[in-house]
Amino acid sequence: MSLLNKNFWKELSKKQEFLKEKMVDDFWRLHYHQMPETGWLNDPNGVCQFKGKYHLYHQYVPDSPISGVGHWAHKTSDDLVHFKEEDIFLSPEHEYEKDGVYSGSAFVKDDEIHYFYTGNVKKTGDYDYIFDGREQNTVHVVSKNGYTIDYQEVVIKHEEYPKRYTSHIRDPKVFEHNEKYYMILGTRTIYHTGEILLYESEDLYKWNYKGTFFGNRSDMGFMWECPDYFELKDQSILLFSPQGILKKEHQFQNVYQTGYFIGRTDWENVVFEPQSSFKELDYGFDFYAPQTFEDEQGRRILWGWMGIGDTKPEYTNPTISRGWQHSLTLPRELTIEDGKLKQRPLPEYQKIRKNKKQFEIPLTGEYKNKELTCEVTELLIDLKNINGRFDILLRQDTMIHYENNILELRHGRSGAGRSVRSIEINDLNQIHLFSDTSSLELFINNGSYVMSSRIYPEAGENKIKFIGKADIAVQKWDLNKTTE
Ligand code: FRU
Repeated sequence: MSLLNKNFWKELSKKQEFLKEKMVDDFWRLHYHQMPETGWLNDPNGVCQFKGKYHLYHQYVPDSPISGVGHWAHKTSDDLVHFKEEDIFLSPEHEYEKDGVYSGSAFVKDDEIHYFYTGNVKKTGDYDYIFDGREQNTVHVVSKNGYTIDYQEVVIKHEEYPKRYTSHIRDPKVFEHNEKYYMILGTRTIYHTGEILLYESEDLYKWNYKGTFFGNRSDMGFMWECPDYFELKDQSILLFSPQGILKKEHQFQNVYQTGYFIGRTDWENVVFEPQSSFKELDYGFDFYAPQTFEDEQGRRILWGWMGIGDTKPEYTNPTISRGWQHSLTLPRELTIEDGKLKQRPLPEYQKIRKNKKQFEIPLTGEYKNKELTCEVTELLIDLKNINGRFDILLRQDTMIHYENNILELRHGRSGAGRSVRSIEINDLNQIHLFSDTSSLELFINNGSYVMSSRIYPEAGENKIKFIGKADIAVQKWDLNKTTE
């Protein structure tokens, strides 16, 4: 019998009505980013393209903007730009997931989508919730259409995981190699290190424990969440979100990290071997738990959660009082070029551009211009001959500052408590900036670095000003609204 009875859904629609009323006039609701219909959003889940249609699911607490028992919300799209809010896809309806339908992924095979996710159970009692008190079951769902469930079964029960791990084992991602299926899971070992656990299957229904896909890194924190694996140009890429890496001057500045190794896979032993250092995917304040998929054109596309957990006391998101919290980043295409991973916004987003303005400025001192505004806006800024410092001041009190090979993103009051994030960049030559009502994404040097942050400026704070000495060429577009 379902744990969620009719009353739950009745109560939910009342709570959602209440939250929707608060959201109606909220200027910070995003115009072209995906956000929760009401309440709380975190990780993107189950992203895939199936029979032409893009399916985007995400962690969702519809009745509260401050987290709670998670569901999978569902949005669909024909063009990756305009999305339709569908009915909730997964809810905690069984004992094995009663405290949250946690993160997971989708695997398209023939005429079906196979989803794998974590069913979270939190026992009540005197537990530490690390070694005890928690169950994380791996669940398999099959759907013939992406909207309804045809099959749902636990494939790995919590007690079946090897003893080497604490109770934190979650976020399955499935991939295929030589007609075998592999599932990787993020874990926290009993030695308080992160590890990527591996299972193998012939048919997607029966899974056998295979070993460790990657681990043994005592310098990389205590828990690894949301692993993802894919191949680009004969390179293997392992991506995950480690918790507990120590801050370095311009690296790992957030409470939790997300990054990747480029390497190769030893398929005989099914072990990942890194050939690069661990690189961060995003240097802004708000980025965590991304997920990728390959679309029908063969592109590797990534969505991230434009948010992060456990940021208190530094930061409390001011949209909570307006009935919602968090959003996703823009979807980005990943490529490998000259052995390096690049991330670029999808060209599909060019169709929401309007009112193009273009300037070429030999900047000496300060430059502003009444046509140069920035609110729901895209700016492509090419830079040459930077001499000394170069600054962009925008919106209410955000500053992009470049000097001595360090690029800083600085927030004032509109950062709601956050102040600065930085990257070491030897030759700054391009900033491709996407500003939404309450977010900012910078793609730097043609996709070499990205910084994503939420900001909360007052409506109408749309200035932009350049300061410094440089030759700059600016293209600017206002962007159409794609959300309701
Ligand atoms: C990452 C994460 C996942 C988990 C999910 C629960 O943000 O902690 O590990 O499955 O969120 O919402």
